[in-house]
Amino acid sequence: MENINPDLFEPYDRLVSIKIEDEEFQVPENNSILRAFQYVGLNLTHAKLCWNQECENCLFAYTDDKNKEIKRALACQQKTFDGMVITQMPEGIRLRW
Ligand code: FES
Repeated sequence: MENINPDLFEPYDRLVSIKIEDEEFQVPENNSILRAFQYVGLNLTHAKLCWNQECENCLFAYTDDKNKEIKRALACQQKTFDGMVITQMPEGIRLRW
């Protein structure tokens, strides 16, 4: 976590493991995926985000390690969980540019 105001995060007791593009990251539990992206240092400035369920620009797809069913959700609302595998990033957000 670099240069991010820690007050932006919801309280959390531990980090959980998620995968983004086959790379594993430790991110705070009880926080949205967008906050997790910030936590690992992803650049969100290319995405137009409202952060409150209005724009749907943060739509992403994920699955978990056990049940391979792909689900879609808003990254500003969906909370992190251990074993989450992100299969499609929101428009304008990438692990690497
Ligand atoms: S950021 Fe706008 S709906 Fe999630």
